[in-house]
Amino acid sequence: MRAMKRIVILISGRGSNMEAIVRAARQERWPADIAAIISNRPDASGLAFASAHGIPTAVVSNKEYPTREAFDDALQAVIDRFSPDLVVLAGFLRILTGSFVEYYAGRIINIHPSLLPSFPGLATHRQALAAGVKVHGATVHFVTADLDHGPIVAQAAVPVLADDTEEILSARVLAQEHLIYPSAIRWFVEGKLSVDNGRVHIATATQ
Ligand code: GRF
Repeated sequence: MRAMKRIVILISGRGSNMEAIVRAARQERWPADIAAIISNRPDASGLAFASAHGIPTAVVSNKEYPTREAFDDALQAVIDRFSPDLVVLAGFLRILTGSFVEYYAGRIINIHPSLLPSFPGLATHRQALAAGVKVHGATVHFVTADLDHGPIVAQAAVPVLADDTEEILSARVLAQEHLIYPSAIRWFVEGKLSVDNGRVHIATATQ
């Protein structure tokens, strides 16, 4: 029997990507356990979903730490209690220190709501509308110290339509996020991902 991989998911808010991952992991019987959901905000609504599904939760409130370094140290200690093979950032709205990211190198992954390398940072849907691009989307990538960069695992593109508002466009992208993020994590737990020279290789069944 394959060893179960342990996944810790970090959220800050509604956690719809986290929900999509939990549901896919269970329905598709991944060789993985969702070991914990950790939030930096005590009021993150995603915590209720986690508890209702019997997943351990923890809160590490950034407001209780004087510096980014102190917060990241505390967060790392809580994450490591659950011995993760993979740390999943799912709407986790904190910039992490270089040493934190380095510590989890190769086993920390993020989803960003744009087709990277276009539109890193915040308000990506507003940025896309302002730029007048005709396609937009989402990117799953390994996390490196370079914010919203790092080896790309998966992307999904959506059209940008003439009457789009930020809300309409973000909902169209989010629907795709809920598909590509679980797929990318499944590839990771199945041992299919490797990174070579900053590029991600996805092993196929015949390899
Ligand atoms: C998503 O759009 C994700 O790409 C971005 O923040 C949003 C989080 O949404 N990083 P949710 O908390 O997963 O519902």
